Amino acid sequence: MTSAIQALAFDAYGTLFDVHSVISTCNQAFPEKGPALSQLWRAKQLEYTWLRSLMGRYEDFWQVTESALVFACRSLNLDCPPVTRQKLMDAYLHLDPYPEVVQALQSLSRYKLAILSNGSPRMLAAVVEGTGLKGVFADVISVDEVKIFKPSPRVYELAPRHLKIAQDAIGFISSNFWDIAGAKSFGLWTCWINRAKAPEEELGLRPDAMIGSLAELEEALRKADSSRTTR
Ligand code: LAC
Repeated sequence: MTSAIQALAFDAYGTLFDVHSVISTCNQAFPEKGPALSQLWRAKQLEYTWLRSLMGRYEDFWQVTESALVFACRSLNLDCPPVTRQKLMDAYLHLDPYPEVVQALQSLSRYKLAILSNGSPRMLAAVVEGTGLKGVFADVISVDEVKIFKPSPRVYELAPRHLKIAQDAIGFISSNFWDIAGAKSFGLWTCWINRAKAPEEELGLRPDAMIGSLAELEEALRKADSSRTTR
């Protein structure tokens, strides 16, 4: 028999907070280029985390995000002077939560809630504070502690260590399939939020549950818990 899930660790960017809420600031700086810039910025940001982790050349997520922005602008032939760059970077500290997030987290208060993210402690503190979620999380865990990015198992290992709960009693929730694969590979129960109805990646690992938005998480946990405890 597997124990019931006691704690939930959430990915931050793209899961709780909409990284594409920077589009309006991008559009102000570069009219009509907002969506393209935001897409490339995010794609490069993730790519740089994987490359830096493989090379053993960690820089924190703020620096990686800024490098990704510089490259994305160059690639799209957008002239981005320091003052514009600063404005765009600042937008990353003020991301919007997805519409269902605040209410969904309130309904999950019987679990110990945490964030487990690539974000640097300062970035995470700003976005959590700015979205009024400060009191909601028992812990906000940053990869900065282990100086390597997801999906290194060293990152997911931070969850049981911080939460002081066995790894099989921790649920990990992310919208990024590759992040789910990393958490599953480490040994956490995983739930993929597939808002975009994307196909599953071919990584030899599947989420334990899949939902369309965080509003469905409570129900998914109920189902998971009844099958785990009666197995
Ligand atoms: C994070 C990235 C994966 O928050 O979005 O860790």
